[in-house]
Amino acid sequence: MKKMTDISKLLEINQLGDERGLLTVIEEKTTIPFEIKRIFYIHGTMPNVRRGFHAHYKTRQALICVSGSCKVYLDNTKRKTDVVLDSPIKILILEPNDWHEMYDFSPNCVLLVLASHLYDAEDYIRDYEKFIEVYGS
Ligand code: TYD
Repeated sequence: MKKMTDISKLLEINQLGDERGLLTVIEEKTTIPFEIKRIFYIHGTMPNVRRGFHAHYKTRQALICVSGSCKVYLDNTKRKTDVVLDSPIKILILEPNDWHEMYDFSPNCVLLVLASHLYDAEDYIRDYEKFIEVYGS
């Protein structure tokens, strides 16, 4: 696994494969730096849709575009970045304090999300002012 240099949280994992096709492996702890408690995927999203608009108190996440592509806007109160997820070997690790918005979904996009905690609506910070209050310095 190689850490990409320009964006510290974007990892590139090894792609295995032979004449039969490709195979990519994700392992808890080895690839993903947390225990995986929940998996969900976002698909069938229209290209003009922007979603997310939240951060968390506890949940860490790993985002992988297993099909197609999308972009992710990140804001950790100190740095704002746009990341392109356009390959099934790219993994974007989101910390709880990463405000994130997903956009520019390709029609075939399947965005797989591995999460460190079970779903809990109370773990979401959906108000940007609250996000700055909690995480801004
Ligand atoms: P939402 O958080 O609005 O999606 P996004 O942040 O990508 O815009 O989630 C959509 C709906 O799905 C919302 O009613 C909450 C529900 N949901 C669950 O029940 N469990 C989950 O693990 C997730 C991620 C969402």
